[in-house]
Amino acid sequence: MEQQQQKERKRLRLVLFPLPAQGHINPMLELATILHSKGFSITIIHINFNSPNPSNHPHFTFHSIPHGLPDHMLKPTTGSGTKDVISIITHLNITTVEPFRECLTSNALDDDEPVACLISDAMFHFTRAVADSLKLPRLVLRTTSATSFNVFPAFPLLLQKGYLPVQDSRLEEPVVEFPPLKVKDLPVIETQYPEKFYELISRVVSETKASSGIIWNTFEELEQSALDSIANQLSIPMFPIGPFHKYNLAYSSSSFLVEDQSSISWLNTQPPNSVIYVSFGSVAVLSETEFLEIAWGLANSNLPFLWVVRPRSIHGSEWLELLPNGFLESLRGRGHIVKWAPQQQVLAHLAVGAFWTHSGWNSTMESICEGVPMICKPSFIDQNVNSRYVSHVWKVGVKLENGILERGDIERMITKLMREKEGEEIRCRVSKLKDMAISCLKHGGTSYKYLDSLVNHIHSLAH
Ligand code: UDX
Repeated sequence: MEQQQQKERKRLRLVLFPLPAQGHINPMLELATILHSKGFSITIIHINFNSPNPSNHPHFTFHSIPHGLPDHMLKPTTGSGTKDVISIITHLNITTVEPFRECLTSNALDDDEPVACLISDAMFHFTRAVADSLKLPRLVLRTTSATSFNVFPAFPLLLQKGYLPVQDSRLEEPVVEFPPLKVKDLPVIETQYPEKFYELISRVVSETKASSGIIWNTFEELEQSALDSIANQLSIPMFPIGPFHKYNLAYSSSSFLVEDQSSISWLNTQPPNSVIYVSFGSVAVLSETEFLEIAWGLANSNLPFLWVVRPRSIHGSEWLELLPNGFLESLRGRGHIVKWAPQQQVLAHLAVGAFWTHSGWNSTMESICEGVPMICKPSFIDQNVNSRYVSHVWKVGVKLENGILERGDIERMITKLMREKEGEEIRCRVSKLKDMAISCLKHGGTSYKYLDSLVNHIHSLAH
């Protein structure tokens, strides 16, 4: 019946525009795959740095546009510090306006198939004005949790009440408007120019409000109250159709770095539920001291670990030079370190017993979907909120509360999760959440229904 409906409907094209960062490209290309399976043709407009590889996605049409960033900003995100992120996004919202408009008018829209709408990363707020000027409907993809986004519209109130800018003396205070968040959990980033960050967030909220709807990589049962709150405040349709990567479709990798397959062959040699998988995503960086405390915390835990250390993700170091001589050898095969892993496969591996994560939203969803309990060490923005929800609301992980990483704390957390009763209870809860996540996608499940309504919504926008 669905195939019949697809045949009868005119084939429409969608133009998708991802932010050039790993945690944004992955869900956008997964979304593209899902919508392609629903009978839409796909055009991806991307910026010419951190670009996706078109040959991995032969069914999509790709158009590259220049970034226009000054040279000093052009260090790859895989090595740069978190402070650059806000400047880069702010710049891109200015420098790509004209190339994006030109691409839409001269290439992307010039096709036999009518373009139904643009689906833009929500952080590209400038796309609203461009889409409006071309009378092109615009949906946004928000790649974070709804729970963290829900705090953004309240920034003016949080500023007025003095929660923001965050002061070190108030970190442990509860934010009464957003229980159970504490001041230290607010979705902000350490930056010299907080006003720029607030301005960016304010634009993202207002231009999202002006869109024809928000697509989320989440499921309703997980984030119902945040989704309801956002729907009330923004008065636009909401489409929580996640988890994107679990639709049983043939996804291709969109990793910028080579996924080291030795991660899997090494996991094959480890007992079930024994390994701690450690990865802090694609942007976060560590200090020298943090890196060494993590190394010793893992070593002292006496459990096997698979650790992703991105090149240049430790201040002042290329890769592993800071490890003491013979560190890995002394562990006799108990530790394996790679530059980048096939993370979704790793989390699905039976040997993995816990995920020590920075609580990026993709990582959090991927962990939940495989029933893997988490140890959370957030770095910035949404990760702060996600980690509080993982530990205190969904109760599927533990959070390292101490701002300073210390090997003794790390060892205690690992022991709690892997060897104690509390860890067993957490494992049981995350396993239930995994079942829920998978059920959502089945016929009649919430994400299944939202995807149907998204497809209908897109067709209605085209008329
Ligand atoms: C950041 C934010 O924290 C996140 O919440 C936001 O939605 C996007 O930007 P990032 O640091 O990239 O994200 O983390 P995360 O959202 O977890 O995304 C990382 C992606 O890279 C995941 O899909 C993960 O599977 C993948 N990955 C990570 C690998 O494939 N291999 C690795 O070794 C590490």
